[in-house]
Amino acid sequence: VRRLTVPAIAKRKGAEPVVMLTAYTARMAQLLDPHCDLLLVGDSLGQVIYGLDTTVKVTLEMMIAHGAAVVRGSYRSVVVIDLPFGTYEESPEAAYRTAARVLRETGAAAVKLEGGAVMAPTIRFLVDRGIPVMAHVGLTPQAVNALGGYGARGRSEAERAKILSDAQAVAAAGCFAMVVEGVVEGLAIDITRSVPCVTIGIGAAAECDGQVLVVDDMLGMFDRVPRFVKRFDDLASRISAAAADYAGRVRTRQFPTEAQLYR
Ligand code: KIV
Ligand code: NA
Repeated sequence: VRRLTVPAIAKRKGAEPVVMLTAYTARMAQLLDPHCDLLLVGDSLGQVIYGLDTTVKVTLEMMIAHGAAVVRGSYRSVVVIDLPFGTYEESPEAAYRTAARVLRETGAAAVKLEGGAVMAPTIRFLVDRGIPVMAHVGLTPQAVNALGGYGARGRSEAERAKILSDAQAVAAAGCFAMVVEGVVEGLAIDITRSVPCVTIGIGAAAECDGQVLVVDDMLGMFDRVPRFVKRFDDLASRISAAAADYAGRVRTRQFPTEAQLYR
């Protein structure tokens, strides 16, 4: 199977919906890959894999290690890697150094970074130098300390206008796609209609050009998830049940049995 390309994804604007899930490990990437167009190594791995309280604490080394694992586990999907907090915001040059290292050390095809108009010159700088960029507007979790939480964005007219102009600015700067996260539905629709690039919604609108979810959320690995998560399975309870079954059998010497023994 030949891997999809960034230009092939970009062409999906207004056409066939783009399917994206996060992935952090090789085996999960392998399982998701046949069903997805994009695999995102999100900095959500801070909470999902490492038990951190925010993505602000995620390091570049974490992103590179998990990014390389996801590239090794996938054959078809375009792999996109989040640039972590503090590794790109300062200047286009800093962002370029970080992004180049990420692509070189993982084999991924694109990076994602958070922010609106203020990041437009950086996006332009990277795109002009051959690094495809996915933008991320609306609710931007790396800015949690400034936003004060993870509530939906775009409820006031002023905030709505700001986020729409942010989306237009990152699109004009050349991003091939943008995540639109945690915004009122009408705003997500307006953004999707007014930018030439693919929009990928999460807590946004069905009209977006694609959708993304955090894989552990959609698999039901967590009890508390945002409104925008639909749980497609309940893995947490299935894992608990399997562990309880195993523990009971060990304690009663019902495991191992003949089938598992070398005789
Ligand atoms: O880190 C992440 O998983 C993300 C997606 C939710 C878009 O940025
Ligand atoms: Na992220």
